[in-house]
Amino acid sequence: MSTLKKILIDKDNSCKSVWFMRQAGRYLPEFQKIRSKNKDFVKLCLNSDLSAEITLQPIKRFNLDSAIIFSDILMVPYALGQDVKFIKGGGPQLGKFNQDKFFNVSEKEFSLKLNPVYKAIEITRKSLDRKKSLIAFIGAPWTLLIYMLNIKKDKNEINLTDVNVNMNVVLDRLVNFLCIHIHNQIEAGADVVQIFDSWASLIPEDNINDYCYNPNAKIVKFCKKKKIPNICFPKGIKEKLKEFNQIVKSDGINLDYEIEPDWVKKNLKDVVIQGGPSPKILLQPEKEMFISATKYIQTFIDIPYIFNLGHGLLPETDPDRVKKLIEFYRNFK
Ligand code: CP3
Repeated sequence: MSTLKKILIDKDNSCKSVWFMRQAGRYLPEFQKIRSKNKDFVKLCLNSDLSAEITLQPIKRFNLDSAIIFSDILMVPYALGQDVKFIKGGGPQLGKFNQDKFFNVSEKEFSLKLNPVYKAIEITRKSLDRKKSLIAFIGAPWTLLIYMLNIKKDKNEINLTDVNVNMNVVLDRLVNFLCIHIHNQIEAGADVVQIFDSWASLIPEDNINDYCYNPNAKIVKFCKKKKIPNICFPKGIKEKLKEFNQIVKSDGINLDYEIEPDWVKKNLKDVVIQGGPSPKILLQPEKEMFISATKYIQTFIDIPYIFNLGHGLLPETDPDRVKKLIEFYRNFK
């Protein structure tokens, strides 16, 4: 059994495990080399051999405990018929949301478009040590909708006034397709799923149930029925994490860097904790990086904890720092 499964399902507190969000990415020269020859990011995600190669890059370099498949949460809107482009320096840009198209895509068509992702998982699993976990992922319905409807004004604000779709119906249809995507990734050889709700902080107070807790809970319920270990990452919801945990009941919760580890220990029960430290700690002088990491590692020393960060590794991160942080965690007593 992979270490992540042991920690998430058996709540095994005796094994250590470390991986990072965006561990395969722009901070790695070996990724940059492939990326510079593959300008179209969606096409790169659909190249199964390269996707598997990129997934394994940080495992080869750092011997991490888990690999996360190289893909993107926006491959789901792509498979649902929406135009998806990644503009250099400008982030993702999606074509206008077409309701007719969205409601007419068949499940078969959807899975077929994502077949290269499943193939990449198969290839990766073959070269990955059995003890290591292969992590599949999805974007939570709300976070996908932020991009699909293009409703984010800036980092802290959304504009829901021009939205002329029935949000709950669209969210439900997304839940359905996301469960299919999880199922297909697990069938292909992944053994854990992480659910990214990166923009949960932008949900209006009155809608938190409908837009965050309920869709996440439905997906987790599906995972539990299929015995798929799952980790939720509702970023930026602060003390609402307690309510999230009581309602959604995922196997694991990834912390962001805004929530205090002491608060988490007191308030989040019966759930495996993952992550927490800001990715910026890797930009600090070495001693300070270790102090920042210690705050989390020490607090969670006697509960099942997976070491990770409070968001993805930043492109300006020195790979040597990543190595040092992994060593520090593994040698921590
Ligand atoms: O974590 C991993 O190593 C696995 C691969 C992965 C990527 N994106 C690759 C990627 C995962 C799990 C994601 C998730 C993702 N994608 C999220 C949720 C996590 C989070 O960051 O909050 C979101 C919101 C996206 C959407 C997205 N994809 C954005 C906003 C951007 C552009 C800005 C940025 O953050 O880099 C991407 C591009 C992207 N996805 C890159 C990578 C390696 C960079 C591509 C490049 O320019 O080379």
